[in-house]
Amino acid sequence: MSQYRIYLTRKIPEAGLKLLRPHCQMEIFSEDHPIPRELLLEKVREVEGLLCLLSDPIDREVIDAAPRLRVISNYAVGYNNIDVEYATRKGIVVTNTPGVLTDATADLTWALLLAVARRIVEGDSMMRQGQFRGWSPMLLLGQEVKGKTLGIVGAGRIGTAVAERSRGWNMNILYYDRGENRYLEQELNARRMELEELLEQSDFVSLHVPLTAETHHLIDEQALRRMKRSAYLINTARGAVVDEAVLVRALREGWIAGAALDVYEHEPELTPGLSELSNVVLAPHIGSATIDTRNKMAEIAARNLLDGLNGKRPQFPVNPRVFEQ
Ligand code: NAP
Ligand code: GLV
Ligand code: GLV
Repeated sequence: MSQYRIYLTRKIPEAGLKLLRPHCQMEIFSEDHPIPRELLLEKVREVEGLLCLLSDPIDREVIDAAPRLRVISNYAVGYNNIDVEYATRKGIVVTNTPGVLTDATADLTWALLLAVARRIVEGDSMMRQGQFRGWSPMLLLGQEVKGKTLGIVGAGRIGTAVAERSRGWNMNILYYDRGENRYLEQELNARRMELEELLEQSDFVSLHVPLTAETHHLIDEQALRRMKRSAYLINTARGAVVDEAVLVRALREGWIAGAALDVYEHEPELTPGLSELSNVVLAPHIGSATIDTRNKMAEIAARNLLDGLNGKRPQFPVNPRVFEQ
């Protein structure tokens, strides 16, 4: 079998590497930080396949630097880091890893929701600083979750899984999506509505849309001002869906009660002011970070890459149009 030349911008779990090894001449960026741009531009020059991370911008310049490139396999479900339009024009297959990370990400969303509503991180800091003086009637009072209204923005795979997890809390489910989600409507009596209305009615607003031109800063000043003062914003989608500078003002000035974030507009940088606020819980983009899920993502990303290189249609192409041209 031919040996494809491929480049991996980071080491992924062995479950994926062992699928690639027999068929590929592969090189891996071995450090644990994003590959420097110049090095990426140099490394893609001769390769047919690229396995990359959501933190690697794969734009025109990278694609133009890679004349032999045939497949870009993103180790993520979100693919806003890739210029898919340009890749398609160049006949390059782009793939992602949907589905296998849905439950892990929905679990993290709930972990964040509960953490911010019940002030767990503030409590943890208090304990570590030796400030706990014993049980107190007024200590770290948070918000009840049971029976409250959960607004899902983007009711796709993860949004649906987050809504499903609300069963134990008997919540009222609202959703905003460009399509209808019959499953949510039938199973959870969810109601589809305009974003403005959802923001006004929800006690918890959880974001699950992909980052696109339309969803960039979907949660802007107007949106945050529409939310209840007692409401919380949870973002495990992409940072730039929220105007983070405005979010800092909203949290500081009490337009909303709190926020819990796994993703950041200028990742890995934090918008100034964010880390000084006590009413925000900050996670380092770990939505899909379980051992099982990352192993499955590695297998899928490897299979997508190999299938594309073998001239087969991969299981998860994000630009199926590329097969029609
Ligand atoms: P998905 O199944 O495609 O769900 C996204 C939903 O949003 C779909 O129903 C989609 O509708 C809808 N949508 C897209 N654009 C919209 C718009 N402009 N207005 C209203 N609705 C819109 O994707 P998923 O697997 O749930 O993943 C969602 C996102 O989560 C990913 O794109 C990624 O950015 C993020 N993510 C983050 C983590 C993390 O580690 N924190 C982990 C995994 C995923 P259509 O079906 O019509 O497109
Ligand atoms: C993670 O953020 C992903 O898109 O897979
Ligand atoms: C709390 O610990 C209680 O017993 O109410």
